[in-house]
Amino acid sequence: MKKQLLVSLFFTLAVVDLYFYQIDPASSLDFRRFNPGGFNNNPPNNNPPNNPPNNNPPNNPGFKAQDPGVRGGAAGAGGAIAGLSTNESALFTATQPTFNEVDAVPDGLGPRMNLDSCAGCHAQPASGGSSPFVNPQVAFASKDGGTDVVPSFISAHGPVREARFVKNPDGTADGGVHDLFTITGRTGASGCTLAQPDFATALRNDNVIFRIPTPTFGAGLIEQIPDSAILANQANNATQKRAVGIVGKPNFAVSGRTISGQTNNNGNDGTIARFGWKAQNKSLLLFAGEAYNVEQGVSNELFQTERDETSNCQFANIPNSVTNTDATTPFQVLSDIEQFSIFMRFLAAPTPSPDTPGGANSIANGKSLFTSAGCALCHTPSFTTTNRSAVAALSNKPVNLFSDLLVHDMGPGLADGVSQGQAGPTEFRTAPLWGVGQRVFFLHDGRTSDLVQAIQAHQSGDTFHRNASEANGVIKNFNGLGENQKQDLLNFLRSL
Ligand code: HEC
Ligand code: HEC
Repeated sequence: MKKQLLVSLFFTLAVVDLYFYQIDPASSLDFRRFNPGGFNNNPPNNNPPNNPPNNNPPNNPGFKAQDPGVRGGAAGAGGAIAGLSTNESALFTATQPTFNEVDAVPDGLGPRMNLDSCAGCHAQPASGGSSPFVNPQVAFASKDGGTDVVPSFISAHGPVREARFVKNPDGTADGGVHDLFTITGRTGASGCTLAQPDFATALRNDNVIFRIPTPTFGAGLIEQIPDSAILANQANNATQKRAVGIVGKPNFAVSGRTISGQTNNNGNDGTIARFGWKAQNKSLLLFAGEAYNVEQGVSNELFQTERDETSNCQFANIPNSVTNTDATTPFQVLSDIEQFSIFMRFLAAPTPSPDTPGGANSIANGKSLFTSAGCALCHTPSFTTTNRSAVAALSNKPVNLFSDLLVHDMGPGLADGVSQGQAGPTEFRTAPLWGVGQRVFFLHDGRTSDLVQAIQAHQSGDTFHRNASEANGVIKNFNGLGENQKQDLLNFLRSL
């Protein structure tokens, strides 16, 4: 009798759950169960530096194995890809200063922005990369007479962050970037007075999420992976993917119980988008256009209007940056967003170290454990670019990115409640791991600098609530490794 009651209760719950799920996955998943306190700004390199995410595995084993920290030595990235033609090389050299260039109000900076240059955020370990050790956003708040307050989630030794609000005040989905800073008080902006967004209230209401910069090394190779290769890889290893989960049908009934990542298709032409934390953007040109307007407030040929049109805060023609039809050399004709894209497209992939940290044997062992534990079921070690690339140096080349470029349900512990394209509130692109050895901050919000924590954060939710992260089975495998094996795997990651 009792048992029957339980069963029917469970059945009712399941039906209710299912009902919600079909109507609105965003509201049926309690994504707010992540720990807002997890968004702390940890100084880099102190192991273990931070609060583990809320849904930390109950069996967190108190590892002896440790993240060796940011790999020292020369930057293994930042140069041009091998095999560029003379003209292409010249273009790489000429466009790098544009990527590094710092914009001011007369150039169209603002009215609202997160910083004033691409390379300021994409800095580590070289121009094009990710968040540096020291966050330039702190000094930027008061640069050139600026009167902005540094929001509480930004600190000198924390990651560069942009902020998105999850919901609008009326409860509808927002998801958009709310820039941290304004041009108020800055040189060239007289007469413009803008208030910063009310981050304190948004934080109190659990309504703000963060994103850190993703590196762009090797991004030209990622652009040239055919959609067909991504789809073929998605279908690969189906048995193993099922084995670490339960069943392999990518629908609501088994969501989160098996590795069943989806592509995030571009709204305009239906092909597979692949850049950004949710694989929300199709190409480097599109990302460059969006970043110029969103991060720096510089409108351009892809994004023609200003995000904030307050009339006494416009100090440059609109769009702010365009093709220069008066230029006399071909390079100067190119608008900034074309130049940014070319620079990023020609950036070489990061070069892994053969023996640091831990020696060649440990790294080789870690690499095979990475596959046997199941990490490689999502972090696909390698793709090959199309053999018909218009840039010969990008044609038929290996792309050792360690990502399937699919978005996966990562459970409530990582969920941010924001949907982008077909990527839902709990889904993220498998983060490419090339270059991880020299990265300072990890995961979409930069919540940790410790690889052990980044790995543990993959695990949250459970099958009973149908909110299990697709990675739960694999993280269980990782936790079952011996301490030396874990260390080998961590050494392998820091060799990348
Ligand atoms: C305030 C910091 C900041 C500035 C300035 C900035 N970015 Fe970014 N960039 C980010 C963040 C954060 C992301 C991740 C965004 C996301 O996925 O939500 C990102 C992601 C990217 C990516 C995606 C790479 C990948 O593989 O996922 C590209 C490309 C990019 N930025 C280009 C640029 C360019 C070009 C500029 C200059 C116009 C620029 N960014 C300026 C913070 C910044
Ligand atoms: C189900 C697919 C999946 C599996 C399995 C998986 N990962 Fe991930 N991994 C992801 C996704 C998605 C992210 C990005 C999550 C986020 O930022 O919220 C990520 C992020 C990471 C990061 C942080 C990278 C960055 O750019 O910040 C590391 C390191 C990492 N994974 C290592 C591993 C290791 C080691 C394993 C195996 C023990 C593993 N992953 C298994 C999908 C997976």
